[in-house]
Amino acid sequence: MDRIQIRGGAALNGVIPISGAKNAALPLMIASLLTDQTLTLENLPRLADVAQLAHILGNHGVDYSIDGKRIGEDTGSGQTAHLRARTIVDTSAPYELVAKMRASFWVIAPLVARMGAARVSLPGGCAIGTRPVDLLLMALEKLGAQIDIDGGYAVAKAPKGLIGAEIEFPKVTVGGTHVAMMAASTARGATLIRNAAREPEVADLAACLNKMGARIRGAGSSTIEIEGVARLNGAHHRVLPDRIEAGTYATAVAMTGGDLMLEGVGEDLLEEALEALTAAGATVTSDNRGVRVRRNGAGLKAVDIATAPFPGFPTDLQAQFMALMTRARGVSRIKETIFENRFMHVQELARLGASIKLEGDTAIVSGVKRLRGAPVMATDLRASVSLVIAGLAADGETIVNRVYHLDRGFERLEEKLGACGADIARIAG
Ligand code: UD1
Repeated sequence: MDRIQIRGGAALNGVIPISGAKNAALPLMIASLLTDQTLTLENLPRLADVAQLAHILGNHGVDYSIDGKRIGEDTGSGQTAHLRARTIVDTSAPYELVAKMRASFWVIAPLVARMGAARVSLPGGCAIGTRPVDLLLMALEKLGAQIDIDGGYAVAKAPKGLIGAEIEFPKVTVGGTHVAMMAASTARGATLIRNAAREPEVADLAACLNKMGARIRGAGSSTIEIEGVARLNGAHHRVLPDRIEAGTYATAVAMTGGDLMLEGVGEDLLEEALEALTAAGATVTSDNRGVRVRRNGAGLKAVDIATAPFPGFPTDLQAQFMALMTRARGVSRIKETIFENRFMHVQELARLGASIKLEGDTAIVSGVKRLRGAPVMATDLRASVSLVIAGLAADGETIVNRVYHLDRGFERLEEKLGACGADIARIAG
């Protein structure tokens, strides 16, 4: 298994191109199941999760091809993929595949919408909490699907097609909103989604579905209206930039000091996270090239945050921000309101010398003057990158084990950081 080796202490200076968003790419790829025509996605990130989902979609009958790159072309730029589900050959998604990536459960929506039947394994437990799918199934039931749980599988049937309905989510759910939008796009009649997730990735999926012929209004706000259409067509769509990747590098430069231009991303995707970084002592500016984050000399200040659905502080940046706060002056309270048990990184940060106490859903971080390098273990995607951030500022050598978590969600992380001055390398094996 690959490991990442970091020698801490170097400032980060330079330009980091931000990749396409993983959390937009996955639902966009899944939307290809809704049409027998080709969906072309540009700026698709090169990630293990994208490759895994392509494999899963292949089982359902999706032809997947990636445009070749010319010699000398920057391999760092996103790839263009063509997905075509001319016929759906299999409406079931087995446990072995779904268990590897929760988002693949979302195939249930286009499968039942297009084929009137789907049999998809329940995703099972996950390192960061129980993460149930009850609300996703509730949305499909409202749209007229009959749902049964059988042998660990969710079985959805709608032989006469789905029917538009009013869906009110009792809790904001990104996956639930994606599923409801995809399923309602070709339902008969109108659908109203209340308390919808407002994440930019929801708006990106809606934009793509609209290019495919759907009639969706209000995505990005908490009320989404959908007028069902008889069929969807192919389309061409560019995946929006990854705000979590950008926020991660913004946090990294706040940690190490230096000056980074995060190319291709806008401040609007990251408002609350950038406010927290500014309060901690970073300087954030932006222009039409991207967002520039700097920190020179001055020490870090402790800042309290609480995660919340968009536009609040993203749970996917909580671990990274905690790593930053380990070096701040004073005490920071970090409250996780989205996922219980998303504090797996606390023990590992402690191995680097951090002082963190857990009280229920809140981590209390007392800043220390220095971190010291150590071997640490990645436990999930975002936790693992928080260890990289801590390692960049720790004295001596840090080895991050189980790097496959990083590869699920961060494209060429060590190359991007290395090009900006970090002493970081991947050790194969
Ligand atoms: C997505 C993101 C993930 C991010 C999360 C929250 C993708 C591929 N993943 O995950 O990176 O951390 O949003 O921003 O886009 N819940 C229920 N019942 C359900 C569904 C969800 O109780 O049926 C709960 C969850 O346990 C959690 C909360 O709702 O407490 C939010 O989860 P949700 O927004 O659905 O997360 P995902 O879509 O799985």
